[in-house]
Amino acid sequence: MAPRVLFVDHSSQIAGAELVLLDLVQDFATEGSVWLFEDGPLRHRLEAAGIRVSMSAPWFRTSGIKRDGSLVRALPAVPALAQITANIGAAARRHDVIYANSQRAFVLSALASIVAGRPLVWHLHDIMSPQHFGYAQIRLAMMLANRLTTRVVVPSQAAAEAYRVAGGKESILRIVPNGISHGPEQADRTAVRAELGLGGGFVFGVFSRLASWKGQHVAIDALAELPTGHCVIAGAALFGEDDYDLALKRRARERGVEHRIRFLGHRDDVPRLMRAMDAVVHPSIEAEPFGRTMVEAMLCRVPVVAAASGAAVEILDGGSVGILVPSGNAGDLARALQNLRASPGLAQDYVDRAEAWARRMYGRAAMCQAIGSIVAEAARERAR
Ligand code: GLC
Repeated sequence: MAPRVLFVDHSSQIAGAELVLLDLVQDFATEGSVWLFEDGPLRHRLEAAGIRVSMSAPWFRTSGIKRDGSLVRALPAVPALAQITANIGAAARRHDVIYANSQRAFVLSALASIVAGRPLVWHLHDIMSPQHFGYAQIRLAMMLANRLTTRVVVPSQAAAEAYRVAGGKESILRIVPNGISHGPEQADRTAVRAELGLGGGFVFGVFSRLASWKGQHVAIDALAELPTGHCVIAGAALFGEDDYDLALKRRARERGVEHRIRFLGHRDDVPRLMRAMDAVVHPSIEAEPFGRTMVEAMLCRVPVVAAASGAAVEILDGGSVGILVPSGNAGDLARALQNLRASPGLAQDYVDRAEAWARRMYGRAAMCQAIGSIVAEAARERAR
């Protein structure tokens, strides 16, 4: 019988990690449930898919705190912590495996796994490096991983390498790339552009949540170096990065390109929007753990231009299925976009190879199957 899985995520916002969760839970729907620390759009999506959701008491809140910020500051007071741990532990006793899908969920799930005596799988969606996290947070996470965790799942070689360097145990590590389902096969490019107030000229898009390390400001600077063309920025500040949101809009004004930018906020129709772009840009200035937007763009047959760091290099197969540019350099990004624009043949060449590559490497079914085996392995290991 398939193990009963308790998925735990601290957030109810829908960012990349939560999209992975939404895909995974479908496979465990009959036997599993999800524990969230707060209410929000994720709960609605899960319940609409027929998944059982439990929530921590309303006084336990972690929203409004930066996802990549200090864990110590993010953690609530000790009594609240003890209470939530006990609650997750009680829920875990009705399941065979605990599956932590975010860092904050992981810390509390690790404690709950002791309370409940259940194996713990940690899906680590982050690069555990000092560029992303404080020293104490990395130490705490690695200590809990090495002592209390049965399996750690990471989405890329880049995330695996950072985990090793941080001192994570190799024997429990498994690499499972995000799997992504195909978007709609067709979208009316002209209609989408009209909706966005765009004509037939060159348009590139950036599709990520707004956070300074995701580098949307570099895309704005690159636009300012292009004499013509437009940029679409889709995504919202989901984890307290509202200042960055304002700073981006200010920057667009200061660079004199605000009339050539469309800030769309969070969107649920990303593939449809992507198909109306001439290029999708992935401008992260720190190493990216995965970067689903690159795969989505490849599946939509839109050329990708990405900052060459973290998983982008693997996902674009070293530059053979997309264009890699130095991270944080608006001038190089602008030149790469100019080249694409000047040679439609080049773009066509990339998209043919990229679509085949993305379908082969990043299928949703393959991800669910791999994670299903890891969960089964974890359940067996504890049962011994
Ligand atoms: C996090 C990472 C992102 C990744 C996603 C899913 O949001 O920042 O790179 O695509 O998780 O693993």
